[in-house]
Amino acid sequence: MIVLTTYEEARDGFRHRDLRQALYDEGVHLMDGVIVNLHGDPHVARRRLENRLFRRDTFAWYETDRIPTIIDRVLAAALAAGRGDLLPLARRTMMALSVEVAGVDIVTGGAGDGAEAGVDEGGGDADADFERLYGIMNRLARASTVAHATGDKEAIIADGDEALAEFEAAFYHHSLYRRQRLVRDMEEGRRDPADLPRDVLTTLLVNTDKLDLPPDTILREVAYFPWVGSHSTSAQLVHAMHHIFTWIDEHPADRDVLIADGARRQAFVHESMRLHPASPVAERVATADIELKSGRRIPEGTAVTVSVEAANRDPEAFGPEPDRFDPDRRRGDGVPPWGLSFGTGTHACLGQELAGGLEPEDALHHHLLGAVTLMAGSILANGARPDPDDPPSLDQNTTRHMWGRYPVLFDVEPTG
Ligand code: HEM
Repeated sequence: MIVLTTYEEARDGFRHRDLRQALYDEGVHLMDGVIVNLHGDPHVARRRLENRLFRRDTFAWYETDRIPTIIDRVLAAALAAGRGDLLPLARRTMMALSVEVAGVDIVTGGAGDGAEAGVDEGGGDADADFERLYGIMNRLARASTVAHATGDKEAIIADGDEALAEFEAAFYHHSLYRRQRLVRDMEEGRRDPADLPRDVLTTLLVNTDKLDLPPDTILREVAYFPWVGSHSTSAQLVHAMHHIFTWIDEHPADRDVLIADGARRQAFVHESMRLHPASPVAERVATADIELKSGRRIPEGTAVTVSVEAANRDPEAFGPEPDRFDPDRRRGDGVPPWGLSFGTGTHACLGQELAGGLEPEDALHHHLLGAVTLMAGSILANGARPDPDDPPSLDQNTTRHMWGRYPVLFDVEPTG
């Protein structure tokens, strides 16, 4: 096995056409035919199709319309109570967002026939259904990435299969039927294409490329988005808030700056993403004898680990003291502030702009901040600070540096 640890070699590894995805080989049951697990031409074709959804105007719509609505809804109870835990708040926000992106309606009949995403904004049963979906997604995530699991792998995979069947019966079927009706209406001229839901499931159903997409493949693809979109993102929010709180402790006057200046807040989020990549490693297998630009030769069949964690702390790319949090860090030419945390090359994260926004210089019209920066802004603007009587603690179930609890108090100024 070969481990790529420098920024240059890791980037080259991500971009090499003869290194195929291998992270899901053991969890292939659930990941067969899913975009991140495709290679070569089938991957290019699927990516081209889904890129119709993941366009800048869709991201802008999510950023200005859906993300603020979801954040307000999720934060409401914690604000009323004056306290909350950042981890479940982040998870609920990011899961609700990713569920909309996937095209999954939480409540049967909750959304009627309209084109808006089907989360019942009225609460009630929606809360219980949301928790159920949340549990299913945790099980799917665990079974899909079983390669990294400790414990009984067969039992984890069997549980993943059960979770997929439960997802199909409880959430997928009605989401599918509703969209099939809407797409039929569009094809028969009764609905404007612009009024279709903007989500992955609808994009796959419209499928203007006429790719061969068996029903089971569409099911697995749609089931993939809620967990991949939420698990990674929620951990990022908590890490970023920790750095922000620590910074404000040392520079109290910057609290107001970080609330008012989205670009500055985003620089903090990106630096935090560099230090705490949600996927610390990517796994690949060489499909041919290859040579990296560095001169390293990799024989066909070799397993290759791309260490994002190490690459993101390579002083050649990120300058001196790479382990230090420094939102003003100077980087090498062409090195993004988040390093390789969103991958790069053919499998580069499709949700990157949704979660992380754009670098200011990349944004032509509207500077997208991304869901993590938006949520950090709402949390700060509502006066959040770590609860002095209930300090945060790390997740004891993993050897990785992950927060398990992060209690905060909200000191909202009474209005009127
Ligand atoms: C901070 C949050 C996120 C991080 C750090 C992240 C990270 C990544 C990384 C590293 C990859 C590349 C995997 C590889 O090359 O093996 C990836 C792929 C992907 N991500 Fe994300 N992701 C995030 C959020 C999201 C969101 C919100 C969505 C969608 C709702 C999403 C959808 C995807 C998809 C569909 C792929 C596969 C793309 C392909 O294979 O062509 N991600 N992500």
